[in-house]
This record gives sequence, C-alpha cells and structure tokens, in this order.
Amino acid sequence: MKAAAAPLREVLREIHARFSGNSDGKIADYIPELAKANRNWFGISIVTADGQVFEVGDCKQNFTIQSISKPFVYGLALEDHGLEHVLSKIGVEPTGEAFNAIVLDEASNRPFNPMVNAGAIATADLVKGKDFPERVTRLLSMFSKYCGRDVYIDNSVFMSERMTGHRNRAIGHLMLNFGMVGERIEDSLELYFQQCSMLVSSHDLAIMGATLANGGVNPITGQRAIEQRYVKYLLSIMLSCGMYDYAGEWAYRVGIPSKSGVGGGIVGVIPGQFGIGIFSPPLDAKGNSVRGVLACRELSERFGLHAFESGYTGQRLSDLLTPARRS
Ligand code: DON
Repeated sequence: MKAAAAPLREVLREIHARFSGNSDGKIADYIPELAKANRNWFGISIVTADGQVFEVGDCKQNFTIQSISKPFVYGLALEDHGLEHVLSKIGVEPTGEAFNAIVLDEASNRPFNPMVNAGAIATADLVKGKDFPERVTRLLSMFSKYCGRDVYIDNSVFMSERMTGHRNRAIGHLMLNFGMVGERIEDSLELYFQQCSMLVSSHDLAIMGATLANGGVNPITGQRAIEQRYVKYLLSIMLSCGMYDYAGEWAYRVGIPSKSGVGGGIVGVIPGQFGIGIFSPPLDAKGNSVRGVLACRELSERFGLHAFESGYTGQRLSDLLTPARRS
C-alpha cells in the first residue's frame, strides 16, 4: 500500500473534525448486538482507482457490513445467472418505502429492487452452490476479493440477526408462496443473515468501492472481484436505491452511487476515480449514518463529485493527490 502524504488527507481531517462534534442520530438497536456500538466511532477512507489510500479517524474499526453487502451479492447473482434471469426475479425500481417493507410488485410478484430486504433475500437465493456451506464459501470468497483479505462473520451479530429475523422470514416465505424463490429459502435466509454479519472497516469499504470504481479489479491486490460488464448495474442500483427511502434526494443532492447499512457504514463510488468508505454508527430517521451523509454531501459539493456534474470548473478531488511539497 502506498503511503500518501497529500492535501487530500488534510481535507479529510478537516471534514472529520467538523462533523465529529455532531451528536445527532440513534444507534440501531432492533438487532440487540448492534446497540453495543460506540456512538463516537467515526472513520473516513478514500481509496483511488489506482490503489492510493487516504484515511482519518476510526478507519480500522470493524463493524458489520449489513445492507452494504446487498449490491455486492447482487453482482454475484448476476455472474451466476446473467442479467435477464436476475431481472425476471428481482426488479430495479425504487420503492420509496422502508428497507424491510413487506411488499412485492403486484403484476410480477417480484421484489422491487435488490437493495430492499425482499430483493436482497431473493438475491441471496440466487447464489449458486451444491449446499449451504458451498454457497457461504462462495459468498465469503467474493467479499475477500473485494476487500483483499480473508473476511469473517461476527457470530454474535449473526445469531442476533437470525433470532430476531422474523420479518425477513415472513418476506422469504411470501416470495416462496409466489414462486419467486426456491424451496431452499431457509438456507437463503441464513445466507442473508451471514452476509449482513460480515465484519468490515471504512478502510475495507473504500477498497470495495475502489474495486467497483476500477471496473471490478481490486486496485491494491490486482485481483478481479466481479466481471467488468456487471459493474454498471451495481452502480445504477446503488444510485437509485442505495440509501433507503432517502435514495431519491441522495441521487439529487449528492449524486454518488452509494449504499448504506444499519451498522453505520456507507460505501460510495466515483467511477474511474475513487471508492469512499465512511463509518459512524448513529443513524438518522431514514437509517443512514448521520455523519456519513454529511461527509458525503460535503465531498460531493466541494469537489464536484455528482455523477451528472458537467462543465465543473472548481477544485477536483484528484487535484489533491499530489504530495503537498510538489503542489
Ligand atoms: O435485514 C435486516 O434486518 C438487516 N440485517 C438489514 C441491514 C440493513 O442495513 C438494512 N437495510 N437496508
């Protein structure tokens, strides 16, 4: 990993200092284990598409990835089955509803998109493997490629998820009723609880984002995590549906394909340029990290990172990569 002494780290320090005093938000407690997080944890990491790392704060603190796993598992489903089959099972329309809404498309019985729980459970159901252990192994191996290291499940969170996951089971069985998932739905729910309980840090999230920014190849290890042709589908789903029922305003104001999770993480992707990973556990009313949203908004506005920015003449994040003594 390259050491990077550059103005970008100073900017991250400044953003970190500005928002670390914000004490708004509430730590998720609907899964009892999540309530144990420290509300002061705050890490910001940026990894460039060529593997330079810039980070501040609690960027090595582990937490569970939760819903941020969803677009990545969707990528595995696309690789396993191809676009048309996956689209026949899971739609790509935003719902404007809460992530755990028990709602399917009336005409097709499909879940609306892979970022709400119904769609994520249907996505987990598509992960191939002859039995449950093989499916978990494939899932973890995929995440290992994105992170560039072995990945682990937080067993306490996993147990907590499955003990309190009645609503997710209801969603799974509703989809079984409509023939949208297979008979092994109980295994697929376990797989979904496992993927949500995987441990990452903001550092990992930024590398995962940088992997997507780099066409699917982890820029630090050089290992491919997803076929290049599928990356754009993950990013478009993240832009339209990645931030719960704040997704529309997020696309409008921030314009960065992103996904958040109830553990307090956010991953963002600037295609061809950067991955952003942020972690701060207190969540706003929509379920997004309060400090994470503020930091992303600041980065987007200050450096013209909105996907539909055109004719931007201000300072670019990439201008800040050069070490200070040479800039
Ligand atoms: O399904 C659940 O309850 C959680 N484990 C989902 C996690 C999450 O971040 C919410 N998602 N959109």
